[in-house]
Amino acid sequence: MAIIDDGIFKDEWYDEVIKAQQNAYTPYSEFNVGALLITEDDEYVYGANIENASYPATICAERTALVSAYARGITKFKACVVITDAKDPASPCGVCRQVLKELTHDDMPVYMLSKDKRCIKKTVDELLPLGFSGKDMD
Ligand code: THU
Repeated sequence: MAIIDDGIFKDEWYDEVIKAQQNAYTPYSEFNVGALLITEDDEYVYGANIENASYPATICAERTALVSAYARGITKFKACVVITDAKDPASPCGVCRQVLKELTHDDMPVYMLSKDKRCIKKTVDELLPLGFSGKDMD
């Protein structure tokens, strides 16, 4: 059965985001998050949360994926998928929403998955309505 039937989501993305989550480094929270970016060429870029004993130095899964992509010169995406160990789908934190706004596009869908394959889909703009961007400095 399809996880979400919107003509965009591909069921294989579930397996790929689980792979991403497996690289989480979470000795402090033990809360593993995986993020998968799907590029415009249907390539995958993986991210996982990487924690630090100095807690604010922790980097969320969504941001590790985005920064990893940009460091490889990849800047065009068609979707982002996020998964955690929580019972219900979890949504990106405020900092990640801001970085998604900066480095992707407002219409890009973000699929938040639970392990039992329930999904919430929101665009970047829906996650950060009236978000601040470079345009606001014109
Ligand atoms: N975390 C993410 O990776 N993404 C989010 O959007 C929310 C939180 C991580 C950070 C930390 O390693 C753990 O989840 C608990 O906050």
